[in-house]
Amino acid sequence: GSVPTGDGLREIVKAAFSEAVTAVLSRGTLVDVNISECSNNVVGDYQCNSAMPIFAELKQKGDTSFSNPRSLAEAIVEAIPGREHLFAQTSVAGPGFVNVTFSASFLAAGVLDTVVNSTDEKIRIPPQRNMSIPKRAVVDYSSPNIAKASEMHVGHLRSTIIGETICRALESFGVETVRLNHVGDWGTQFGMLLTHLHDMQMGSDFAITDLQEFYKVAKLRFDKDDDFKARAQSAVVRLQAGDVQMRKLWEEICEISRRDFEEIYRVLDISIIERGESFYNEIIPLVLDELVKKGIAVEDQGALCIFGNLESTPLICRKSDGGFNYASTDLAALWQRTTQLEADQIIYVTDVGQSKHFEAIFDAANRAGWLDKKDNTKIRLDHVGFGLVMGEDGKRFRTRSGGTVPLRSLLSEAQSRCLESLQTRSSDLDDKELLEASHIMGIAAVKYADLHNNRSTNYVFSYDRMLDMKGNTAVYLLYTHARISTLLSRAEDQDLTSPAHQMVFTDEKERALAVAILKLPDALRAVVQDLLPSRLCDYAYHLCVAYNEFYSTCKVIGSPEEKSRLILCRATVFSLRRALFVLGITPLHKL
Ligand code: ARG
Repeated sequence: GSVPTGDGLREIVKAAFSEAVTAVLSRGTLVDVNISECSNNVVGDYQCNSAMPIFAELKQKGDTSFSNPRSLAEAIVEAIPGREHLFAQTSVAGPGFVNVTFSASFLAAGVLDTVVNSTDEKIRIPPQRNMSIPKRAVVDYSSPNIAKASEMHVGHLRSTIIGETICRALESFGVETVRLNHVGDWGTQFGMLLTHLHDMQMGSDFAITDLQEFYKVAKLRFDKDDDFKARAQSAVVRLQAGDVQMRKLWEEICEISRRDFEEIYRVLDISIIERGESFYNEIIPLVLDELVKKGIAVEDQGALCIFGNLESTPLICRKSDGGFNYASTDLAALWQRTTQLEADQIIYVTDVGQSKHFEAIFDAANRAGWLDKKDNTKIRLDHVGFGLVMGEDGKRFRTRSGGTVPLRSLLSEAQSRCLESLQTRSSDLDDKELLEASHIMGIAAVKYADLHNNRSTNYVFSYDRMLDMKGNTAVYLLYTHARISTLLSRAEDQDLTSPAHQMVFTDEKERALAVAILKLPDALRAVVQDLLPSRLCDYAYHLCVAYNEFYSTCKVIGSPEEKSRLILCRATVFSLRRALFVLGITPLHKL
């Protein structure tokens, strides 16, 4: 049988079993099955555990076609389409676990296909089976606050790194993504800051660090000086109403922050559209009006509130003084994105602390009907929450004096530590190249250290750990990549696109590497469906482990299996580069 080439191994097995079960039960629609990797690869590559629950279901309905789950499992195996081609071995164990082992010819064809159909420029993976993907996705990420903390902090770094990988993963499936930076450029902090600057007769000729200082002082005054507080509040009202002078100073403050952010985005290789809170200012009244008309927002003690179904504390969407807040803006933004941007999916990347906020916003949008599409499906909304960045002392990541760590110094510290460690090793690079490599590797290390954890847990920021050559780090991946690239450059003139029968697996490590390579689409699918970038890190890491094991036992150049092994190397390098690209990591070709 011919197998669509776009799917990963798990999806191929899943489709095969799904079709087999559907045929055995003579059902009209595809039956979903449960596929997992075998914990012991002597038993097989993948396992299907669905015979037991399906048997139980049949029994309940009084269907006695099978006497036990085992006989059902055996019938399923018989019905697998293209079984001989796919699997070298199938077995039924215990009460009805089915184990399958791929055939060498199937794996060889997949590896060869990877080599034939891959180019370094191509990041799109072929179409996938049984996967619904949005046409257009809005990803709201990074989103630092101007003036308040003025500089981006590690929380925004996490959002930036995770959000970008999600965008790239979506794009590898052909999704059109709209990257939006929901910058905090509109809150009460501006009233304080503008009033304070006015009092000090300051223009706008200051640096980002000054801005941070001004904000601190302004906040102190706001908290203890009632006159100042009143003036600050009226300043916000004037700003939001479009006062020309206020607007001008506001513009200048935003510009100072913007220059600072742009520098970070440049270093991180991110390009994102700035569409801050201020963008939505004008549509807020209209959107709130609609919510009132639909009976979703109601007045309560002067404030406009949205009561959820379960939560007793309402979402306040207009304060009792008539002012708008974070929630007002997010309601307007969601309305704009669903109705005007026509997004099919909207993803918000922030710390987990904001999950209640988004739950309430999403619920309101759903009740307002904003999520209903013409084809009767719903727009998918996701809050991608992440944990805190912790210091090695187990407390929130801070500078020694307790301040927030400026991102630029964090990134340059990673780069300079990287240079130090590169200099201690023998290398094919000259000094200038070494410096360039350390710049790339330092950023890669920070990104990967963040992405490889399950995002919802806190993670400990440790330069030592992220630069460990032997650990699950970007450094390890980049060294492996450089090693393969160097090897391949010695065989550049070889034509490796010969027919599949030229591939041979004489060593178990070759086969294991082939299996590792062919899981890429599964990993990308997990990033897009479960919004878990760590799944792609797992893929890249296991691919490199499999490669290094292969490389330490199998001679490549000059061996009788040279061609076949070079094909494996090339498929590895293409797959690794694709994964690195989505992780936002630039591959190094020499080290
Ligand atoms: N500026 C916010 C913060 O720093 C994040 C904004 C996230 N996006 C949104 N649409 N609320 O916490």
